Amino acid sequence: MKVLLLNGSPKVKGCTYTALAQVAKALEEEGIETEILHVGGGKNYGGCVSCGNCAKTGKCIYDDGVNLAAARLDQADGVVFGSPVHYGAPAGSMVGFMHRLGISAGAKLKNKPAACVVSARRGGTTAALEVLNKLPQYFQMPLVSSQYWPMVHGSNPQQVAQDQEGLQIMDRLGRNMAWLLKCIQAGKEAGINPPAPQPPVKTDFYKEL
Ligand SMILES: Cc1cc2nc3c(=O)[nH]c(=O)nc-3n(C[C@H](O)[C@H](O)[C@H](O)COP(=O)(O)O)c2cc1C
Repeated sequence: MKVLLLNGSPKVKGCTYTALAQVAKALEEEGIETEILHVGGGKNYGGCVSCGNCAKTGKCIYDDGVNLAAARLDQADGVVFGSPVHYGAPAGSMVGFMHRLGISAGAKLKNKPAACVVSARRGGTTAALEVLNKLPQYFQMPLVSSQYWPMVHGSNPQQVAQDQEGLQIMDRLGRNMAWLLKCIQAGKEAGINPPAPQPPVKTDFYKEL
C-alpha cells in the first residue's frame, strides 16, 4: 500500500515538507510505502479556468504538476495534502492545484483515505484546514484525524523540528492513516467494499419545487 503526500508549499524542503516527512516516517514504520511530491514552488498554479477540456480528455489542459499528481494517484491508496498558511488560508497555489486536481482527476481520489496538514508561524491554521478539507469531503475520501488538528508551527524547518507537539500530531496522523488503510484492505479481503455508486441527484436552488 502507498500514500501520496502532496507538498503545496513554495519551498521544496520547508516547514510543510518537515510536517509531511514526519507523517511519511510514521507510515513507513507501519509498513506503508510513501512518496512526497512537491506541487508548490515556482509553479504558480492558478485556479480552474472552467474550460471543460478535462471532461473530454481526462486531463487538465495545463500539463503541469496537476497531471503528474493525477498519474501518481493511480498507485496511491491514500493522500495527504500539505500547505503552509498564507494570510489565514492555504497557499493560493495549493488551492488552485487542488481545484484543478479535483475537477480533472476526482475519480482517482474517491474512497481513498485523506488527511490535510498545515504549517504556520502562528495563526490561521484551523481556517486553512477548513478550506483544505473541502476537497476530500467532496470526493468521499475518509478523513483521517490525529490527537489534535493537524498543524505544526515555525518559520523554518529548524523551528518546526522543535515543535514536539506538532511532530507528535503528525506521527499520530501517519499511524492512524496506516491503521485505516489496513482496515480497508482487510475489509476488501472479507468482501466489504465501498457502497455502490448511485446516479447523482442534482437540484438547482433557483427552480421552484
Ligand atoms: C505570503 C505569506 C503569508 C503568510 N501568512 C501567514 C499567516 O497568515 N499566519 C501565519 O502564522 N504564518 C504565515 N506565514 C508564514 C508561514 O505560514 C510559515 O512560515 C510556514 O511554516 C511556512 O511553511 P513552508 O516553509 O512550507 O512554506 C506566511 C508566509 C507567507 C510567505
